[in-house]
Amino acid sequence: MTEVFKGTKPAARIAGTGHSVPDKILSNADLEKIVDTSDEWITTRTGIKERRMVSRGEKTSDYCIRAARQALNDAQVDPIELDLIILATISGDLRFPATALIVQNAIGAKKATAWDVSATCSGFLFGLYQAEMAIACGRAKKALIIGSEFLTPMNDWTDRTTCVLFGDGAGAVVLNDTSDERGILSITNGTNGDQCDLLYCIGAGTAGSFNSGEPSDGEKYLRMNGNEVFKHAVRILYRTAIETVKLAGLEVADIDWLVPHQANIRIIQAVAERLNIPMEKVFLNIHKYGNTSSASVPIALNEARRDGIIKDGQVILSVVFGGGFTWGGAVVRF
Ligand code: UT7
Repeated sequence: MTEVFKGTKPAARIAGTGHSVPDKILSNADLEKIVDTSDEWITTRTGIKERRMVSRGEKTSDYCIRAARQALNDAQVDPIELDLIILATISGDLRFPATALIVQNAIGAKKATAWDVSATCSGFLFGLYQAEMAIACGRAKKALIIGSEFLTPMNDWTDRTTCVLFGDGAGAVVLNDTSDERGILSITNGTNGDQCDLLYCIGAGTAGSFNSGEPSDGEKYLRMNGNEVFKHAVRILYRTAIETVKLAGLEVADIDWLVPHQANIRIIQAVAERLNIPMEKVFLNIHKYGNTSSASVPIALNEARRDGIIKDGQVILSVVFGGGFTWGGAVVRF
């Protein structure tokens, strides 16, 4: 039987994936020694069993470079062929220049132009959106998109409501122009700046005491109203999933795999249930990595491809949500 192509004609396809995470593992049992928590609470409330943690002296770019090289190798693309490098991060090496330029230099992508994207946990799909647009309108043929975070150094280790959630790592994809049926069938994103106070980090930002001296200790840490964020996350992820699938000209039933942002297993279960997607069709690695923000989806994509879970020709739906709020979705035929 001839297979009838269903969905939009893609301009760009994911030709390679890669990821790099720290060797150091911080388990729930380790956290029991730091804050008043338990493996049982963390597992049932979040789905996280352990997360990876960077060591002193390491830099975000170290992980980006390893993930990028793996993705380029997988795609059989030479760095010199890259037109574009987009790095999604809220934890770059320096305030400036952008960490994307450090990666550009390290991998020898001399022809590329490079920039960072700041869109919290949605950053990777924001980067993918920009790269897909550049390819679709003929301004680029090959792009490298990376999501990378060092979140454990932003943890307040006295706040059990946040410090159990986050982990470190990087993931990358290579996007090529394409004329066949495999590729990005639809991609969406959005923001709503009236909820910035629910999840944020002042860091060395000018809203803090930076202007009047050194940032105070409290300003270094990530802050979140978890309950409120949770409610918005489920609603917005569901809505984004529906919109993105519709834009691809598909039905939810056409999706082979849901590859969501890995923030909380209960958020993922609630969204899958509303979409009527069984959990057997949801890719999960939250138990190993926790919430790695913009690195979450590219790490998941690489593991799912590497382990033969996502097969050629299959269609995946990815949805993300993060502080701000920011959100996005993508439907991709592999
Ligand atoms: O990446 C995108 C953005 N992030 C997210 O999407 C995260 C969204 N939020 C969440 O995942 C969840 O809200 C949390 C995991 C952060 C919290 O789970 P929850 O089920 O909403 O718990 P809760 O905040 O309602 O707290 C329930 C209880 C409280 O105790 P009381 O007041 O009932 O006595 C908390 O103090 O659990 C307590 N608690 C803990 N207990 C043990 C909070 N954190 C912990 C902990 N260990 N780590």
